[in-house]
Amino acid sequence: MRLLTGIQPSGDLHIGNYFGSIKQMLEAQRTSDTFAFVANYHAMTSGNGGEKLAKLTMQTATDFLALGIDPEKSTFWIQSDVKDVLELYWTLSSFTPMGLLERAHSYKDKTAKGIAANHSLFSYPVLMAADILLYSPQIVPVGKDQIQHVEIARDIAIKFNNAYGDILQIPEFRIQEDVATVPGTDGQKMSKSYGNTVNIFGEEKKTTQNYQKNCN
Ligand code: ADP
Ligand code: TRP
Repeated sequence: MRLLTGIQPSGDLHIGNYFGSIKQMLEAQRTSDTFAFVANYHAMTSGNGGEKLAKLTMQTATDFLALGIDPEKSTFWIQSDVKDVLELYWTLSSFTPMGLLERAHSYKDKTAKGIAANHSLFSYPVLMAADILLYSPQIVPVGKDQIQHVEIARDIAIKFNNAYGDILQIPEFRIQEDVATVPGTDGQKMSKSYGNTVNIFGEEKKTTQNYQKNCN
């Protein structure tokens, strides 16, 4: 059984990331074939790039290792080190009806929160499908916000297989019901993009200040 998950290097890792996906991967690496990666191409959708992104990518990679992802037991990599994912992304784009992307909640939520609408933000579920389908996992552990993206990956894979035969593994998402959406300090979904996180490696003073700011 192969499990795969990715985390964007868009800021410090928080307890939503931990309960939503990292914890499940840590448990699984003892018994299953686990694949975990730092999704640095994805972080470009919110405007990160250059030196800042390079730094965040290394920071997220070291945080993953510090939390216990063991490269002896799990396959662990930085997304941009395997360029084939971009080739598959383009190939899968031809099997992605526009309506599938137009219905994606994440795009609507992010643009509603003021994140600039650009093509990479819109087409990001296709890149996520490529991330998954390139490595043929059966299971993708994610938080609730990512379920729709795994469903999109399934839909694309089925369309591709209908055209070319049984080539792509159809993945299933896995969520931990009790922590599917960990709330942030403002009561909404905790997210690096929303400035409402409790960081795993955060300092108590800063976390308390952030919490008090959001409560006022
Ligand atoms: P963020 O929204 O902070 O940028 P990511 O998009 O990098 O986080 O998410 C990485 C993983 O952590 C995904 O599987 C996602 O579903 C999960 N995750 C993120 N935020 C939460 C949350 N508040 N509750 C549960 N899981 C979460
Ligand atoms: N889109 C995910 C998020 O924002 C991160 C991610 C990218 C991912 N590629 C993935 C998660 C593949 C699981 C599988 O949380």
